[in-house]
Amino acid sequence: YSLGAVCCRIDTSENSRRLYIMTLGCLYPYRRLGIGSKMVEHVLKYVHADGNFDSIFLHVQVNNEGAIDFYKKFGFEIVETKEHYYKRIEPADAHVLQKTLRPKLMNGDAKLSEEKKDKRRRVSSDRHNISRQRKDLYEERPRKCQFFNQKKIRK
Ligand code: ACO
Repeated sequence: YSLGAVCCRIDTSENSRRLYIMTLGCLYPYRRLGIGSKMVEHVLKYVHADGNFDSIFLHVQVNNEGAIDFYKKFGFEIVETKEHYYKRIEPADAHVLQKTLRPKLMNGDAKLSEEKKDKRRRVSSDRHNISRQRKDLYEERPRKCQFFNQKKIRK
């Protein structure tokens, strides 16, 4: 029979590809023997082999200090606390623990492209202004010419 189990699913919400640890646990008499670590190491091996995950995350009850310490050893951090997350257990609040595997490229790209778009907008508005000024100059010139010509004609 099994002494521990871990179950995960791939989550593609929030513009990223993340592995969600739905549950991870080890039978009480067999705790602190390294079984939990083996399961997290297995998960880490999986995400690294895949190479295309932004992060790993999970929910944990706010009072589960043992599990929080356990996950922190693997580089997980509390990134959010959700009130009334659990419906049938007390306390109902949950921390979201997350281990970042790579910076949020989607957001970074979006920010970068926003900056690029801003620059493009500025350049195009500058170009527009310059061409307007040129046009004004161009439009002024014939008027002067016309005036000059009229004078010339009158003479
Ligand atoms: N208190 C403080 N630190 C802990 C604890 C604890 N209760 N448990 C583990 N750690 C830390 C320790 O630093 C430990 O190293 P050490 O024993 O040399 O001091 C290290 O984590 C590694 O411990 P493991 O022996 O590998 O962990 P274990 O096999 O005991 O599994 C687990 C830890 C999974 C949290 C286990 O206690 C458990 O099954 N708990 C009940 C289920 C649970 O709470 N699961 C997590 C809920 S969140 C979720 O499932 C998504």
